[in-house]
Amino acid sequence: MSTALPRRALIAPSVLSADFLRLGEEIREVEDGGADLLHVDVMDGHFVPNLTFGPPVIAKIREASRVPLDVHLMIEEPERWISRYVEAGAAWLTVHVETSPHLHRTLQQIREAGAQPGVVLNPSTSPETLDWVLEDCHHVLVMSVNPGFGGQRFIPSALRKVEAIADRIARRGLDVAIEIDGGIGPDTIRSAWDAGATVFVAGNAIFGAPDRKARIAALRSLLT
Ligand code: DX5
Ligand code: ZN
Repeated sequence: MSTALPRRALIAPSVLSADFLRLGEEIREVEDGGADLLHVDVMDGHFVPNLTFGPPVIAKIREASRVPLDVHLMIEEPERWISRYVEAGAAWLTVHVETSPHLHRTLQQIREAGAQPGVVLNPSTSPETLDWVLEDCHHVLVMSVNPGFGGQRFIPSALRKVEAIADRIARRGLDVAIEIDGGIGPDTIRSAWDAGATVFVAGNAIFGAPDRKARIAALRSLLT
């Protein structure tokens, strides 16, 4: 008989899809609706073809929120910005393997700054890129769309990648969470859970729903 504890799913609404003019109210609504984390997408207009916000806005989001901030850095040279984002309020801080030639050092930097370090892989990036840093990760984020925009269609090959990473984590006996980001909603969340993901970012599927609480409950109900 398995003695494994039941897996718990974490739902992380992505504020990229929120109404920025009403950000405080939007955050309260998803928190009251059962969000476990708030996913915050930082884009620099270089690594990805879009621009969002930086540390001052994140510090304000921190003031307006009760749940931990899961900050996803889609920026070049992320190592230059680690302390600024942790000071602004990032509890989880995730850097792209594609932006980080000294990934091992960058992950230590995040941990020393006081946040939970994570690595994110673009859809075309192999899970083998994690092999020498998996022990240093609190979480791994698998992109299931090309980063830069909300509301895109889920890329199914992400599921095989989640499985491959889950297998590596299990074989090494590690406790690393697998997060998935992009196109997650009622039609895709269950397959990601079955592949081994436990942290689900959802922008459009939550903020685009008229009743965010009902949508979060519906997503969670698909995982039981
Ligand atoms: C895309 C971002 C995502 C985005 C997801 O670059 O990393 O976090 O907000 O949005 P949906 O859930 O709408 O695909
Ligand atoms: Zn993201």
